Amino acid sequence: MAETTESLSSLNEDHYGLEKVKERILEFLAIQKLTEGKGKSNILCFVGPPGTGKTSVGQSIAKALGRKFIRISLGGIRDEAEIRGHRRTYVGALPGRIIQGIRTVGVKNPVFMMDEIDKVGRDFIAGDPQATLLEVLDPSQNNSFTDHYIEIPFDLSEVFFITTANVLDPIPPALKDRMEIIEFSGYTEDEKFHIAKLFLLPRVLSSSGLDGNKLKVADKAIKKIITLYTKEAGVRDLERKLSEIARKVARQVAEGQIKQLLKISEKNLSGYLGPEEYELTLAQQKDEIGVSTGLAWTEAGGDIIFIEARLTPGQGNLSLTGQLGQVMQESAKAALSYVRSKARKLKFDPQFYYKSDIHIHVPSGAIPKDGPSAGVAIAASLASMLTSKAVKKEVALTGEITINGKVLKVGGIKEKILAAHRAGVKTIILPKENKKNLIDVPEEIKKQLKFKFVDHADQIFDDVLVT
Ligand SMILES: Nc1ncnc2c1ncn2[C@@H]1O[C@H](COP(=O)(O)OP(=O)(O)OP(=O)(O)O)[C@@H](O)[C@H]1O
Ligand SMILES: [Mg+2]
Repeated sequence: MAETTESLSSLNEDHYGLEKVKERILEFLAIQKLTEGKGKSNILCFVGPPGTGKTSVGQSIAKALGRKFIRISLGGIRDEAEIRGHRRTYVGALPGRIIQGIRTVGVKNPVFMMDEIDKVGRDFIAGDPQATLLEVLDPSQNNSFTDHYIEIPFDLSEVFFITTANVLDPIPPALKDRMEIIEFSGYTEDEKFHIAKLFLLPRVLSSSGLDGNKLKVADKAIKKIITLYTKEAGVRDLERKLSEIARKVARQVAEGQIKQLLKISEKNLSGYLGPEEYELTLAQQKDEIGVSTGLAWTEAGGDIIFIEARLTPGQGNLSLTGQLGQVMQESAKAALSYVRSKARKLKFDPQFYYKSDIHIHVPSGAIPKDGPSAGVAIAASLASMLTSKAVKKEVALTGEITINGKVLKVGGIKEKILAAHRAGVKTIILPKENKKNLIDVPEEIKKQLKFKFVDHADQIFDDVLVT
């Protein structure tokens, strides 16, 4: 890789923000140059929520290096042959996706993006696709990669591989080790606004044949789309909404209904996008007994979740619904044991168990959830239910809990905080051990939130329960 890194200006031209990402990429390319590709890892792995620019940064790298770009998806591959090809004796045999990709671009040194490396099936049915990937991505082996279909070894050593994933966890350590991980995180509302104005809107307008003289979208309308029509870490839906407007306007122009410049403002926006899709802020919703605001971290970035707890007549049985995984169920049990031990301090009847069942539910019921990070929020909603004191909706909690009430650190802090901010949370209660993660959160977001760090759940009640 002898290209000069100065030529990477197109990374800047095509993308707003992403400072850390750009810096890491430049460093990576510099090291590639100095070690002539013989360093420990010469494969990039972009990890982050959907729509945060992973694919498009990959395309810019290709453009900057003057190489061709090809992208394949590894999602759901369960058969080694999809990567390495079928032997020709097999009816309907085809080369694997790697060779097909190389064939499409017709060069041996493209930037080759492999999407969804976190979704390569572990429940493989034939051969081990992950082992094959290891071979493809290993610089000491991939100069003689054999596809079963073409049979002659093919030299992949000049290919610049970039893999992408939404989450890091499912990637096996051996593969992870081989790659340089670069994290993409969700955008703030302000960043989204700039991305829309500088990149998405101009692109959408020109691709629907509407230049600035036919359609203008006011800044306030863009902001309204961001807050009331989308709810995402990245900008994919935002781009979709802008295209939707452009399509409708293009039709009106084509049909002659619009003759002069059309301005989309906050007011006429709903005429194009329909009614607002999301509610304003949590602060405007009513506090309830037994419903706490938790923070989740999923493949799509951060999100807020409501954790509901209810007592029903019964004999101390606990039921958990909302598709909670094993870890989350155990975490709920730990939270319950802890809260029960606090009867005296929180002043509720320690005997409630003899006459009531407990039901914990986490909507949306159709989406599977797991992980220990809701422990503290579950404890809050249980305490609320048992004391009949409402939980403050605008206080969000995250943290693992032990049966003694100790609060342990959790992952995804930046994404969770961005989501909380989007939803209008005012105060966030976090594990003390996570204090260091705040360094990744933009200042403008931090300024608008109050943080409380706890190492024991005893410290949360005064802040979450309405007294
Ligand atoms: N920082 C940015 N500046 C300008 N445009 C951006 C930025 N981030 C994302 N975009 C644009 O948003 C759209 C979605 O980005 P992209 O397809 O790269 O997402 P992704 O991270 O690859 O998502 P997925 O995980 O779903 O594949 C693209 O049109 C891209 O150009
Ligand atoms: Mg992508």
